Amino acid sequence: MSAAIRLGIVGGAGWLGGAIAGAALQAGVVRPQDLALSYRSARPDRFPGALWTKDNQALADRSDVILLSVRPQDWPALAIDAKDKLVVSVMAGIRLAEIGQKHGTRRVARTLPNAAAEVARSYTPWIASGDATGQDRAVVRAIFSACGLEDEVGSERDIDYLTGLTGSGPAFPALLANAMMRHAIAFGLKPEVARRAVNTVLTGTGRLLDLKDASPADTVEAFLGYRGTTAAAIETMRDAGFDEAVAKGLDAAFRKSIAMGEA
Ligand SMILES: NC(=O)c1ccc[n+]([C@@H]2O[C@H](COP(=O)([O-])OP(=O)(O)OC[C@H]3O[C@@H](n4cnc5c(N)ncnc54)[C@H](OP(=O)(O)O)[C@@H]3O)[C@@H](O)[C@H]2O)c1
Repeated sequence: MSAAIRLGIVGGAGWLGGAIAGAALQAGVVRPQDLALSYRSARPDRFPGALWTKDNQALADRSDVILLSVRPQDWPALAIDAKDKLVVSVMAGIRLAEIGQKHGTRRVARTLPNAAAEVARSYTPWIASGDATGQDRAVVRAIFSACGLEDEVGSERDIDYLTGLTGSGPAFPALLANAMMRHAIAFGLKPEVARRAVNTVLTGTGRLLDLKDASPADTVEAFLGYRGTTAAAIETMRDAGFDEAVAKGLDAAFRKSIAMGEA
């Protein structure tokens, strides 16, 4: 796709909006002069050449693509007439139809990136309304390919589910790593050594997965087959309810995601 889109990011001062802007600029999906970002409190000092504004309607009027990156609870107060332009939401829980109705457009995409967009390693599922064009879909793909991997999914229910599974980004690996670190420190390792050891396991895992794109099930099976210390740990963790705990947690995230949209 050519670098011809004019992109407006509402809430561009925030965590995810800023990460998407940085990734899109880095990948050449948008040029600084074609990028507008809005803020509510303090004007950030980043993205030289881009326009920072508090006026969301002015941002929408100068853009071809309007990306909504405010928190869901701030969205009802947002008054933007998109005038049938493409609106792309990253907000958890808010449905395609609601977005289109509020902002005066039938061309809407609902996406769910995660915080790893900051390092171009997000996973972003997305879905577009029936009136979104082929070019609209190409724009969505270009923006979120710049942030990492993207997949067009079959239903909004899939997005609600993935909000819990991948929208959390590093949260669940961090939960496991934190439990490992606490155990190591309780054993007597220096906290600094425990942190370096555990973080390196995490980053090494990421690199290996990037390289081999292996299935986690195959990796677990390989360690079980080896019959060493790791097999002893995996079997004991599973007997203690590891898989059930993860499934219950993901069910809870899915329920919360649905409830956010209904609130
Ligand atoms: N962070 C993630 O990992 C993640 C993952 C998936 C989806 N999301 C979704 O991404 C959206 C943004 O999340 P975030 O983590 O980036 O939140 P955030 O850091 O709080 O960013 C939201 C930004 O929007 C600004 N804002 C609110 N109302 C505004 C308005 N009317 N005009 C201009 N700016 C306005 C806020 O300004 P103030 O500074 O004044 O509050 C804030 O800078 C949410 O809807 C969330 O569901 C986030």
